[in-house]
Amino acid sequence: MPYQFKTIIEPFRIKTVEPIHFTTYEHRRQALQEAGYNLFLLRSEDVLIDLLTDSGTGAMSSEQWAGMMRGDESYAGASSFYRFEASVRSITGFQHVIPTHQGRAAERILFGVLCQPGDVVPNNNHFDTTRANVEYRKAEARDLVIEEAHQPALILPFKGNMDVAALERTIAEVGPDRIPLVMLTVTNNAGGGQPVSMANIRAVSEVCRRHGILFFLDACRFAENAWFIKTREPGYADKSPAEIAREMFSYADGCTMSAKKDGLANIGGFLALNDPPYDRERYRDLPQRCKNQLILTEGFPTYGGLAGYDLEAIAVGLREVLQEDYLRYRTRATAYVGEKLLAAGVPIVQPPGGHAIYIDARAMLPHIPPPQYPGQALAVTMYLEAGIRSVEIGQVVFGRPTADGSPEAPVPLDLVRLTIPRRVYTQSHMDYVAEAIEYIANRRDQIRGLRIVWQAPVLRHFTARFAPL
Ligand code: F0G
Repeated sequence: MPYQFKTIIEPFRIKTVEPIHFTTYEHRRQALQEAGYNLFLLRSEDVLIDLLTDSGTGAMSSEQWAGMMRGDESYAGASSFYRFEASVRSITGFQHVIPTHQGRAAERILFGVLCQPGDVVPNNNHFDTTRANVEYRKAEARDLVIEEAHQPALILPFKGNMDVAALERTIAEVGPDRIPLVMLTVTNNAGGGQPVSMANIRAVSEVCRRHGILFFLDACRFAENAWFIKTREPGYADKSPAEIAREMFSYADGCTMSAKKDGLANIGGFLALNDPPYDRERYRDLPQRCKNQLILTEGFPTYGGLAGYDLEAIAVGLREVLQEDYLRYRTRATAYVGEKLLAAGVPIVQPPGGHAIYIDARAMLPHIPPPQYPGQALAVTMYLEAGIRSVEIGQVVFGRPTADGSPEAPVPLDLVRLTIPRRVYTQSHMDYVAEAIEYIANRRDQIRGLRIVWQAPVLRHFTARFAPL
């Protein structure tokens, strides 16, 4: 037997490098003040290690760059579109493939065409833009993730699952007529990057079919979800990630996708769907109505707001993301950060997710109550001390201001997400991140909360300005 090496290495070598920027503590203190303590408002050149998001921040492969050169920039009928369409179809099996400039454009088109005021859209957890696009249609975005997902330290293989009984209750309560579609987000970004099991996807699909309701996947991180099914769910160990992904999509009627995540591209997305199998008035001509909306705001259906070269990068990226070597490395690299933090006594959402480690800021900083934004306070401190940019996913993102200025009602969790861009940082970058957070954790009682001094009416986290308390 050949020796089985235990070290999981990056399944690539580096062809191009991009310098990162070292700054002084004083410079960062100044930058923070100017940014109103909102890390979205920093300049990237003032950031050393950028873990704000895994969206559009990945490194492309030499094959993707080769595809970029092949990009056909014809307005209509470009060959790049047909390669993109074939790639999406081979993975999802969906008949209609509608390119969009990113995921939220697919959401806006789908909800715009399907939702009416007073509707309810169930999901395991809506991510911020998904929720905002549902609410923009004056519909309710209802989160039905399993109860266990609200216990950060609990270790379960599929903490992103939907509570199927709660879905049945919702349908009984509001009636199927007011539910235009049900969604499952794979992996569950707002709930710690946790996967959804194939059994749960099947069960949700079965409920939807019984009631004649469309079922869509928010498929941004479908490949990472497929890998967790392969490694955690009985019966899937010998299946390829592509076979597992295909089975996941086979239970759905369509998907929205941000290709900036598991498309391994810097921009792009799509809406893909079959002709609805149900005879409901609001489902009539659904694919065509989506394409009509696309033409209005995104572009002609063979480019949808993207350049031909973007379509090529996505077509190649969707195949590369399903390679076993890549997914093994990807999930291991994320878990590595989680294990280092746990060893340093930092509470995180367990088990580690696919694209990110989520620090439980409420548990780490019990002296800062939720209305003083413990997650934001921790994220700001990580930038100030170490130049690391992370993102709060908690009270700032999901909390709502009160009319009379009294303290906001606490949201279920206050998390700080360390989001790992794909194929970008090395193990020593992550060792630095872990060392910095351990240093901060040892001085956690010195961290103070924040208050909001200005906020926008929707998606406030992107532009709000804070002041230290
Ligand atoms: N759905 C999920 C689950 C997402 O995580 C995102 C984006 C979207 C939809 C929207 O896609 O950005 O291409 O319009 N999430 C990024 C993040 C921004 O940082 O998690 P988009």
